[in-house]
Amino acid sequence: MNEQTVIRAKEYIQKLFEGNSDGHDAAHSLRVYRNAMLIADATPGCDRYAVAVAALLHDADDHKLFDSKDNANARAFLRAENIDAQTSERIIRIINSVSFSKNKDRPAQTIEEYIVRDADRLDAMGAVGIARTFAYGGKAGRGIDDSVQHFHEKLLLLRDMMHTRIAREMAEERHSFMLRFLEELEKDT
Ligand code: NI
Repeated sequence: MNEQTVIRAKEYIQKLFEGNSDGHDAAHSLRVYRNAMLIADATPGCDRYAVAVAALLHDADDHKLFDSKDNANARAFLRAENIDAQTSERIIRIINSVSFSKNKDRPAQTIEEYIVRDADRLDAMGAVGIARTFAYGGKAGRGIDDSVQHFHEKLLLLRDMMHTRIAREMAEERHSFMLRFLEELEKDT
């Protein structure tokens, strides 16, 4: 696995998510990838390539968008790249540990799993988290009040769920911004 694989993974998700713009799109995966690389840079000894590819593919089989079984989309890419079975399984395990709903409180097993988890959760926070919440809410027919509920049920809990030090720092900033936003929103409404 090398830099070329990472470049092709970016192209692969662009095609895969074509036509989606509800917050689970290629742009989300690219932001998660960017967050993951920032965290990986601050985490010596982690497997950077596994983190990079898993971050890019982490929503490739998201059940809200695809009805693929057993990570079929991610596996198709890894097969096309001739990535060996052991590395592929490691990447699939990282991908499967990201989902909020599938994992609940189950702890991650490896530092790579924690990195991609943190990276995905960071993208649900701050300015981008706010933008995604209302984009998704609009698509689901939810108004402003219902979307605000989502902050209290999920987004404001994420800060305390970060595992890596640098993600905790990034989360702190994004968390305060969301609180400020909710305050302003309350004033305006
Ligand atoms: Ni995601």
